[in-house]
Amino acid sequence: MSASALSSTALPAASSSGFRLSKEHLVVAVPVAVISAIGGFLVSQYLNRRCCTKGLVNTSISKDSPKVVHSFDMEDIGSKAVYCRCWKSKKFPYCDGSHSKHNDETGDNVGPLIIKKKDT
Ligand code: FES
Repeated sequence: MSASALSSTALPAASSSGFRLSKEHLVVAVPVAVISAIGGFLVSQYLNRRCCTKGLVNTSISKDSPKVVHSFDMEDIGSKAVYCRCWKSKKFPYCDGSHSKHNDETGDNVGPLIIKKKDT
């Protein structure tokens, strides 16, 4: 590196009001600051999503509703009804057997709620 090149990259003298950045420093500092800000934002979004969905039981059913509630009259149930308690059923609130796959994948032991009339 030549002496003239060194003198053009040397830090500017501090003025009485403080440190001054040269145009060359800004050309490097601004992209670094922008990339750092974007990177920080993306990392925080990733971490927030991870921590806030970790404890969810319901990951897909009626997510636009503040609370998922179903109500049935006993007279309408018939002789037997099988309701999902794992929140994985494609026919929710009815069980479609998806709990078996969930149990196999996670080691969980969830199963449906079965309501039936007494055998007489
Ligand atoms: S599918 Fe959820 S309990 Fe069967």
